[in-house]
Amino acid sequence: MSLQQRVIEAFHQRFAAPPAFAVRAPGRVNLIGEHTDYNDGFVLPMAIDRAVWIALRSRPNGQVAAYSLDFPQPATFTLSAFAHQGHGWFEYVKGVAWALQDAGHILEGWEGVIAGDVPVGSGLSSSAAIELATARAFAAVSQLPWDAATMARLCQRAENQWVGMNCGIMDQLISAAGQAGCALLIDCRSLEITPVRMPDTLRVVVLDSAAPRELASSAYNERRAECEAAVAKLQAAYPQIRALRDVTPAMLTAAEHRLDQVERKRARHVVFENDRVLRFGAALRSGETDQLGALLLASHASLRDDYQVSSRELDTLVELAMETPGVLGARLTGAGFGGCAIALTEADRAEDAATTVIERYRRATSRAGQAYVTVPSQGAEVLTLDD
Ligand code: GLA
Repeated sequence: MSLQQRVIEAFHQRFAAPPAFAVRAPGRVNLIGEHTDYNDGFVLPMAIDRAVWIALRSRPNGQVAAYSLDFPQPATFTLSAFAHQGHGWFEYVKGVAWALQDAGHILEGWEGVIAGDVPVGSGLSSSAAIELATARAFAAVSQLPWDAATMARLCQRAENQWVGMNCGIMDQLISAAGQAGCALLIDCRSLEITPVRMPDTLRVVVLDSAAPRELASSAYNERRAECEAAVAKLQAAYPQIRALRDVTPAMLTAAEHRLDQVERKRARHVVFENDRVLRFGAALRSGETDQLGALLLASHASLRDDYQVSSRELDTLVELAMETPGVLGARLTGAGFGGCAIALTEADRAEDAATTVIERYRRATSRAGQAYVTVPSQGAEVLTLDD
């Protein structure tokens, strides 16, 4: 049974009536452009075919009641007065309600059943998926206009200010705006989106290290602060820059001596990563696929050595992938510190490559890794159900 059918079925059982809507919002992988979004730079993510689904109908008196098939505790609260209650999945639902109301939207309550197959805590943005699914649910019952970038910004605000994770815009925007068959080249300053079709001859394999993402949040904030410190020092040479996005490789080389060793490494990663994203996007568009693998590997090396967000498990996955037939390139995806890597493979060898890499990974690390082939999917959407 599909997830869509499961939430609809569970809704019937709980409420003895059909839902009015089913909404869905996907997780993501990022092909290239890591830790560039909060530096106003470029990213190239794609929405994956794993998502959070909600079957719902409106509920009177501003009451929200969402029941998860994955977690025991429900999300139940009243829109006129609600507060934090720990760290469960329901805080994402409340955070989105808070951000929407704070932006001036008049919200209706709803009741529903929610379920997802984006693995939680593995760096595939299950939190963005639940946020965007929640925003879609509120938009459906409250008849809010849906603009993907605006909703992504509000969900990012929910995550930053309600949940307390200081992420950039990438995860929410790709979950909101993903397009089937395409990765999206996103300018994280202007939020301009350019869809880039994935060639039929290529596949993306997700390689989940199954290693915990320890210290991810504090190390993430540390990296952000280091980038800001680098910008402040580079402004002495280049007063016009606002973010590392404004620094070209040549500018950085000329002014690197102003930075301490750590700032220099962080800045180097971001400046050259932005350049790699643009080259990767151009190569995908022109069909020059022979460059793609090298760009992925250069990105991984830079994240490992200069940005220092890789892990032994992620490095092992990338190394094993590169020894596997049909693999063009591989790199960690998302914030790092554990989580997932991706491998770009020839389409007809993708399944075999997934099996081979993960079997070898399990033997090498004794961790229960997972691997699966994924395809670029549609972003957040709503289905109006007739009966
Ligand atoms: C996490 C954040 C994103 C982005 C990536 C790193 O996924 O949520 O905003 O910064 O890390 O590229």
